[in-house]
Amino acid sequence: MHLASTSLLAMMNPVDYSPAEPGKGALLLDPQPATHTTSRLRTFRRRILSGTALCFLLGLVFWCHPLTVGRPNELAQGSVGIAVDPRLEAYQNPENAKYCADWSPAVEARDNVSVTFELPTEADLLFFLSRGPVSGGIDLVRSTSSSTGPVEVNVTATYHDIGDLRRTKVCRMGAADEHGLLIWAEPRHPHGHPTQNVQFTIIVALPIGVQSYKDLTTDLARFAHTTMDFFDWWSPVSFEVIRLRTSDAAIHSGLMGRALFIQTSNADVQGNFAGYELGVQTSNAPIQVAAIMFGENVGSESRVQLKTSNGAIDVDMVLLSGYANNTLRAVVQTSAAPITINRRLANKDPIEPAINSSFFLDASTSLGAASVQLYPEYEGTYDLQTSSAPAEVWEGTKTEDPLGKGRHRTVNKTLDGEHAQGSMFWSRDGEPPEGVRRGAVKIITSKSPIVLFW
Ligand SMILES: *[C@@H]1O[C@H](CO)[C@@H](O)[C@H](O)[C@H]1NC(C)=O
Ligand SMILES: *[C@@H]1O[C@H](CO)[C@@H](O)[C@H](O)[C@H]1NC(C)=O
Ligand SMILES: *[C@@H]1O[C@H](CO)[C@@H](O)[C@H](O)[C@H]1NC(C)=O
Ligand SMILES: *[C@@H]1O[C@H](CO)[C@@H](O)[C@H](O)[C@H]1NC(C)=O
Ligand SMILES: *[C@@H]1O[C@H](CO)[C@@H](O)[C@H](O)[C@H]1NC(C)=O
Repeated sequence: MHLASTSLLAMMNPVDYSPAEPGKGALLLDPQPATHTTSRLRTFRRRILSGTALCFLLGLVFWCHPLTVGRPNELAQGSVGIAVDPRLEAYQNPENAKYCADWSPAVEARDNVSVTFELPTEADLLFFLSRGPVSGGIDLVRSTSSSTGPVEVNVTATYHDIGDLRRTKVCRMGAADEHGLLIWAEPRHPHGHPTQNVQFTIIVALPIGVQSYKDLTTDLARFAHTTMDFFDWWSPVSFEVIRLRTSDAAIHSGLMGRALFIQTSNADVQGNFAGYELGVQTSNAPIQVAAIMFGENVGSESRVQLKTSNGAIDVDMVLLSGYANNTLRAVVQTSAAPITINRRLANKDPIEPAINSSFFLDASTSLGAASVQLYPEYEGTYDLQTSSAPAEVWEGTKTEDPLGKGRHRTVNKTLDGEHAQGSMFWSRDGEPPEGVRRGAVKIITSKSPIVLFW
């Protein structure tokens, strides 16, 4: 495991995901271990990381046990409720609880009370659900005290009036291999004041010795989510499908999983994600993420979907794969705000970039500039549409053939101006190579420039 982690760190270095502004969402590699082993790693990674080794390592880190669930494909089914988990419907009523916390020890003089629950690490589904007028925050952290389990959940309720507390319940729910908590509150009196809401802080401590979990779902309206501990190449923790769902509250995450679906509204989403499929949806707020996507097998497709409105989208995307012919398909949508996409591959490194991979991008906004960076291997079409502003392709200054076959970079512009169209490819004679079309990039905005860097 240590070998795998070390190599993954090495692998990520060329992509340079080091934190640009500490504390501003761009958490990433733990700098401590990096500095004391950097030179050792440098020689190490030149030896180790051939395509097959990479493939093996990815497999080792992420999927040490065979997967039994089918690949989720929810992004294809539209974007409404991307993080909705129908399994939670069974757990919305405290009457079906295994038991609920007893608030009687809470005394009038105190303004908070805590209760602790334990959940099994091997659950098919871990969930955190709220119903009624409650709000607060949930933090996923790595436990330092417990190495193998169980998952310890500490719920603290903060209240002004003991009467408000008594109108809430925190219940341990579950059936078969699904385990979780329900935070429940009586519907508010029509004339009730919102400050009467009881605030809950949920701290979920996942034992440090467990490196793979199955599904995790939250459905917690008005709960800020923080899961920054889990994007750690040194000691990776992976999930199968993670769904984080809230509203009017920010989600700041670092997570690795097979599929990640993140949904809120009126608040920003920030974080670093690694997996096969990523969906992020919010509104009236920015999205700032790094998406490290993997190829699952020969010819597989990985997806990224980022949607908001009235907020900028800033994303670093990379496809890493030990397999050939993978596709990365990305949909990026906002309005009245800029879009910035960096599509980077570790192409100057001994690590094999995803071989013969394809990239499909559908990006749209309005009244905001769009800047999209492709990787040099990209060969495909582009379609850039704006109004009252230029839409341009800027070629990089490095004209070396990324495959070292002595080919030249060609951009064939068939339409120029506010609506620019064409294709880009590598060839010896300036003619498009036979049968090679590995992508399509479409970018739409209005009243603002578009720049496509290749
Ligand atoms: C809970 O109440 C105690 C005593 O009033 C206080 O010291 C503590 O900071 C409170 N904790 C939270 C999380 O509000
Ligand atoms: C739960 O959190 C509260 C408030 O932060 C703390 O006082 C209490 O010790 C914690 N309990 C456990 C079991 O961790
Ligand atoms: C990838 O696709 C190309 C072109 O379709 C094909 O020639 C090649 O065999 C494929 N590679 C693999 C490993 O299947
Ligand atoms: C990559 O694509 C080329 C052209 O389609 C094909 O000849 C080659 O076999 C492919 N490489 C792999 C590893 O599939
Ligand atoms: C540029 O693209 C057009 C339309 O696809 C095509 O007809 C033309 O041959 C291409 N020119 C070059 C030099 O590749």
